[in-house]
Parts: sequence; C-alpha cells; structure tokens
Amino acid sequence: MPLPPRIMIEAVLAARRSLIALAGLMVPAPIAVFDASIGGGRSFVLGAVAELGVADLLAEGPADADTLASRLGVDADALHRLLRAAAVMRVVSLRPDGRFRETRLTRTLRTDAAVSMRQWCRYFTLPSTVAAWQDLVGSVRTGRSAFPRVHGRSVWDYYGDHPDEGRTFAEAMRAMTSMDAPAVAAAYPWPESGTVCDVAGGTGMMLAAVLARRKGLRGVLVDVKDVLVEAGPFLDGRGLTERVELVECDIFTSVPVTADVYLLKNVLHDWDDEACLRILKTVRSAMPLGSRLIVVEQLQERNTPDDFASLIDLQMLTQCDDGRERSAAELADLLRQAGLRPEGVRRSPGVMALVDAVA
Ligand SMILES: C[S@@+](CC[C@H](N)C(=O)[O-])C[C@H]1O[C@@H](n2cnc3c(N)ncnc32)[C@H](O)[C@@H]1O
Repeated sequence: MPLPPRIMIEAVLAARRSLIALAGLMVPAPIAVFDASIGGGRSFVLGAVAELGVADLLAEGPADADTLASRLGVDADALHRLLRAAAVMRVVSLRPDGRFRETRLTRTLRTDAAVSMRQWCRYFTLPSTVAAWQDLVGSVRTGRSAFPRVHGRSVWDYYGDHPDEGRTFAEAMRAMTSMDAPAVAAAYPWPESGTVCDVAGGTGMMLAAVLARRKGLRGVLVDVKDVLVEAGPFLDGRGLTERVELVECDIFTSVPVTADVYLLKNVLHDWDDEACLRILKTVRSAMPLGSRLIVVEQLQERNTPDDFASLIDLQMLTQCDDGRERSAAELADLLRQAGLRPEGVRRSPGVMALVDAVA
C-alpha cells in the first residue's frame, strides 16, 4: 500500500492531535486522565484478541460469542465481554443481535493480512514485555533499561533462551517494518548494481523492499542465527533466495561483509551511545572507502513531543539496553565519532528518517 506524501501524513497527524486534545477538553480533567490511564487495558484487549485469533474467525462472517467461544475453546461470556470492549475501539463491531463482525481494524489483525498487526499486539502484551514496562519507574529512577534488571539479561539473550518469544518479536518487527519499508526504499537513490548489506536487518523486510526497487542489486542480510532461520522462508516467498546472502554474526564483534551500501534500521535506538559506537565502529571497519551507511530511525528532538517517537522512546528505555530515540544531530555526532562523514538527512513519507554517511 503506497504511503501518501509526508506533508499529508503530518497534516492528518496534526488534525488527529488537535481532535484528541479537543476531546480531552470536552470532559473534566479527572475524566480525561482516567481515560488515558486505562490505555494499558486497551493494549491487553488487543493482545487478547490477537492471541485468540478472533480476526481469523470473523473473516468467515459475523458470529456471536457462543459460536466463537466453542471454536476457540474459551468461556463464551468472558469472550463476549472482551469483544464488547474491543468494539469500543472499533477493533470489532457489535451488532444489536449480539453478533460480532469485522471492521478494517479486525482485518489488519488477521494472520494473513498484507500488513498483519497480530504479532505486534501479541508481542506488546507478552509477560516479558509487560514486566519490563511495569518497571518504568525503576528506569526513571536509575536511567537504565528495565528489561535486563527484570529478566537478568539483555532482551536479545532472553530471546535466545525463549525462541518462541523471539519469533513473535521478529514477526512483530517485520510487521512494523513492512509499514515503512516501501517509503524508506523510495526515499533513497540506491545504486543500480552492487551490494546492499542490512546490518541486524531482522527477517529481511527492509532489504526485500530495496531489492524490489533495484533488480541489479544483491543483498546481504546480517543478524543472529534464530532470526536468519525465519528470514529464509520469507525471502524465498519474495523470490529473493538467489539474490540475498545470509550472514550470521555479532554486530559488536565483526561484520564480515564487503558492500556498497550498509543499512542500520531501528538498530541504534536499541542501545546506549557507547554500544552504538561499538556497532558503528564494527560496521565502519568492514566498509570500503567511499561506501555508504544509511541509518534509518524515527527522530526525536529533545523538546518536541512526538505522536509515535516519544512513546517508542520509552519502549526503548524499558525493553532494550538503555536504548533511546535520538535527534538527527545526535545520530550525526555518533557517526562522526565512529569515523564516518554524515552527508545529510532524508525524510521518508512515513515516520522514518534516513541519515546518510560515507566512509
Ligand atoms: C529492533 S530489531 C530491527 C530489525 C530490522 N533492522 C528492522 O528494522 O526490521 C533489532 C535486530 O537486531 C538484532 N540483533 C541484536 N543484537 C545483535 C547482535 N549482537 N548481532 C547481530 N544482530 C543483533 C536482533 O536480532 C534484531 O533482529
């Protein structure tokens, strides 16, 4: 689905912000705060609908809770209450005859949706994710990420020990990336031929979008073993097996890939400055002179609340290794310290920015 131009997205978001602010003004402040405070409950409603696979069943047509519950093996009354709450958010609709039917939001929760948000909603309410969010106050007290404090190891090591959750995260990340990959791919003048290396590129969604635009390019996908196992079938489904090499490595130790363009998308925001520098220096040492590194991130200016980046910044604070969203100037500074020369920022039509640097 092509994204509308950036200016239109910004206008729609500004209008949405104004409408939400206006709605807040139409009720007393305690009610506005109460409404915001139960936002966590909304995440759990979505998580439960996604976990149970309700959207896949509603794709077959409207159904009441008894029918759905017998197919899902759950309690009919509790399911009715869950879906009634989901209807408040238009995640489903509830008809006067007691049957639920799908909405456009239900359709994006289907397993087979073009952009399926099912795994993201599951990931966001996994007990391991929630436990780290629960210690947000601890993160604010210490300035350190909650996940390692709560789970005793980095999120990536935790996923290594819990491959099912790691798979859910990888699929959630692929869904997030599928929303902006076409726009990011369209925002950069990729070479007609040569090699693009996506460093910590997950299951390959971003790389696939770039290769779809340039038939003469080859790709190298770098990540940890379990994630690359998931990447194989995905790239195969896109007909890219012959054009993409999978390279398992630790981005802190060595990225043994010679390429013309290197990509780091949504990777630096997982880490603190010191770890980012280690990653950037590792990549820099693999880069031939004159090759380019494109850092793709949401930008967060220090004094500008942002609809998405400001909450994702807290997601990084709680879930990752002292990660954070950064401004373009902060990213450029890290690139310079790693021996790269930043050469400007391109904004893609979605929420992403591309910070371009040359070795
Ligand atoms: C937030 S995800 C971003 C994935 C992808 N770039 C995207 O935007 O969809 C971060 C990725 O870093 C990978 N990763 C984390 N630590 C790593 C390490 N030490 N070496 C290689 N990859 C690593 C994870 O497996 C994960 O795929």
